[in-house]
Amino acid sequence: MLLVTIDRDSKRSLQEQIVTEILGHIEKGVLTPGSKIPSSRMLAQELNLSRNTVMNAYQRLLSEGYLETAASSDTRVSKILPTELAGVAVAKTSHDIDDEIAQESIKSKHKKVTFTGPVQEIVNKNSRRILYDFWVGRAHQSLFPSKIWLELLRDCVSYSSRQLSQYGNPAGLESLREVIAEHVRYTRAIPATPDQILITVGIQEALNIIARLFVVPGSEVLIENPCYQGAAFVMQSYGAELVPIPVDSQGLDVDKLPESDNNLIYTTPSHQYPLGVTMSLERRKKLVAWAERTGSYIIEDDYDSDFRYDSAPLHALSGMSKHGHVIYMGTFSKSVGAGLRLGYMVLPKQLVKPAIQVKTLLNNHNGWLDQAVMAKFIQEGHFERHLRVIRKDYKVRRDILIEELQRNFGEVDLRGAGGGMHVTWTLPDDFPVDAETLKNEVVKVGVGLYTMNSGGAIELSKTEKGSRRIILGYSSLDYRQIIEGMRRVKETTERLRLGR
Ligand SMILES: Cc1ncc(COP(=O)(O)O)c(C=O)c1O
Repeated sequence: MLLVTIDRDSKRSLQEQIVTEILGHIEKGVLTPGSKIPSSRMLAQELNLSRNTVMNAYQRLLSEGYLETAASSDTRVSKILPTELAGVAVAKTSHDIDDEIAQESIKSKHKKVTFTGPVQEIVNKNSRRILYDFWVGRAHQSLFPSKIWLELLRDCVSYSSRQLSQYGNPAGLESLREVIAEHVRYTRAIPATPDQILITVGIQEALNIIARLFVVPGSEVLIENPCYQGAAFVMQSYGAELVPIPVDSQGLDVDKLPESDNNLIYTTPSHQYPLGVTMSLERRKKLVAWAERTGSYIIEDDYDSDFRYDSAPLHALSGMSKHGHVIYMGTFSKSVGAGLRLGYMVLPKQLVKPAIQVKTLLNNHNGWLDQAVMAKFIQEGHFERHLRVIRKDYKVRRDILIEELQRNFGEVDLRGAGGGMHVTWTLPDDFPVDAETLKNEVVKVGVGLYTMNSGGAIELSKTEKGSRRIILGYSSLDYRQIIEGMRRVKETTERLRLGR
């Protein structure tokens, strides 16, 4: 309800006060052109006034051109305002807001914000200009299981909606933790019990929980190089000094790990982000042995392991550590939908209590409804069926992308095709331009390609190869979009080769 305050002791009439309040809202941009005004009946009720008083105030604003009656018979702020208010009351863009903040800080003093970023980009700001968008890690929107989701949602609200009025367990809904424990036991060989599962708002929150547990300004955190920005930036935001450990064709180069005690290392062994390589079994064993020897923790980010196309997945590191040196993070962002913001951690027993305490401080717990629906979705077998459908579908999209890359560019240096939702293409030495220039050129013909940096990766020590790498997501594109997108990349490359 629109906030209109009136002062019954004022000498100004009530009608006058309503007019001034609404004009003030328009001037400040609280009410923008076209926005709806409460009906005179509702506002009169809210202010405990006679409806006539409000109607008279509205009548005046209508006759002066500040309000208009829409076709739906709603009263709205005029799309074209009388000159004295025009220009102040337009919807503000984020640029306007940034400018205003800059102006304001010149005029007045404010307490300094100590947080400075950076943060990962989670939506593609340019997507409106892009018809063929190889943006990474997005589920195909037509594959979201809407019908069954709606049915389960109805069931949950009909039979258990009482839960929506209560706080719940900070660790998450028991039924969901049970099915997740079973899921990771079967599919990832992690012998977890439900009490080791902590439900989170995606992996991003899990990373914050871990950082809160272990990182203070100046703490060293070992990360893969190149690394997922979302992980590196969270650690940095808690004051961590990032120590890059190289990645090669077998994953994290475990021989480059320090022998010092009590480290924390972040890794994506199933499908390294961004390179896409899978950590070999030998490396996995060595890494876990290193963590146990040095008293370190491994943060295992298993973001897209639900998709393996050509071979069975290797066991998760978490199940290989006998003494609880791995913190496992899983997510439903890739398998069901990122909009759900639902993920989980499998915690070593000694971390269960402190991790739940941090979660409680962050947001008490995840929302009940989505947890309840997801629990049923898994319990009733829909999740398994859904995974079978999308695995098959993404494999076809992946195959088309590889075919098109090879048809247009011959032998291509690709990594990460065995699983996940993206591949990494290293442009050959004789390619006419680097990845950044190619990205900037193809966007002119409606194609979105991503470099390491624009694709959500960070390279702490830059390599020449890194500047030739393109990250190609395929899961959210239709077949024809992949084919036409690649044709346009080829055409642009030919033009660049000719120096045009
Ligand atoms: C490597 C990696 N980890 C984690 C995430 C984010 O997961 P969530 O949506 O569960 O926060 C992403 C998202 O793309 C990712 O690429």
